[in-house]
Amino acid sequence: MPQSDRAVPLLRLSDVGKSYALGRSALARLLRREHFHAVAGLSFDVAAGESLAIVGESGSGKSTVARMIVRLIEPTGGDIEFNGRSIVQLAGGDLAAFRKQVQMVFQSTMNSLNPRKTVATSLAEAIGRDGVPILDLLDMVRLPRAVLARLPHQLSGGQRQRVGIARALARRPTLLVADEPTSALDVSIQAEIIRLLRELHRTAGVTLVVISHDLALVGELCERVAVMQTGRLVEIGHASQVLHAPRERYTAELLAAIPRGLAGRRAAA
Ligand SMILES: Nc1ncnc2c1ncn2[C@@H]1O[C@H](COP(=O)(O)OP(=O)(O)OP(=O)(O)O)[C@@H](O)[C@H]1O
Ligand SMILES: [Mg+2]
Repeated sequence: MPQSDRAVPLLRLSDVGKSYALGRSALARLLRREHFHAVAGLSFDVAAGESLAIVGESGSGKSTVARMIVRLIEPTGGDIEFNGRSIVQLAGGDLAAFRKQVQMVFQSTMNSLNPRKTVATSLAEAIGRDGVPILDLLDMVRLPRAVLARLPHQLSGGQRQRVGIARALARRPTLLVADEPTSALDVSIQAEIIRLLRELHRTAGVTLVVISHDLALVGELCERVAVMQTGRLVEIGHASQVLHAPRERYTAELLAAIPRGLAGRRAAA
């Protein structure tokens, strides 16, 4: 099994690129190009059990990377390997197995949860035949049983995000990719969700890739940080190095842009 081979990372991106076809859109006319290169020449590894944050300004390509890792979209260049196998080639049963092992948590659960399905139904669907028992899932994400009968609009934003995380955990994934998991939430609730993700990472050993533009937050959650700018990797390293002694001017500028009130969180991380 390649997983036991320490030389093979859980996830490997090699020279990954993604260009979107612009067709005859207004943007295409403005740029005078038919393609927009959202991501280019991106290479990094994620080891099993590790937590990596991807940060960068809006439009730097973070969500594009997240969506490629979970194979919602395919790269237009390079390769992505999971456990030593290219995910671009996966099909049939292998693809189904991959989809079980790699799950995504979205920014807005208002859109990702079906508004007409109760929490119980939506969790039962995610669990399938051999997933985590529903009450265990509720315990994992610290939700009371009373939420089971409710519809998404009858939950608080924090509770909805916990349901989103529970759904992602239902099939015991190896890798969780969270794209701005707290940015739709109040600041006080953000901390709770971060604590929950950190606990799942530490106790359940789930490998985490967390996308965020909040550097203060990722310092609390992730061991390594990758910084992206206009589709390229600017720097990658241990969180303490990247957040406290950045090598690149761009990273230093991102850090300088953190609001004053959050600087303490950053320093405490
Ligand atoms: N389907 C698409 N077609 C064309 N361009 C796209 C498409 N999706 C994203 N882009 C462009 O690719 C670039 C990267 O987008 P992406 O959503 O990955 O950025 P991001 O870093 O996640 O930004 P944000 O922090 O605002 O979420 C942006 O310039 C965006 O406009
Ligand atoms: Mg995004």
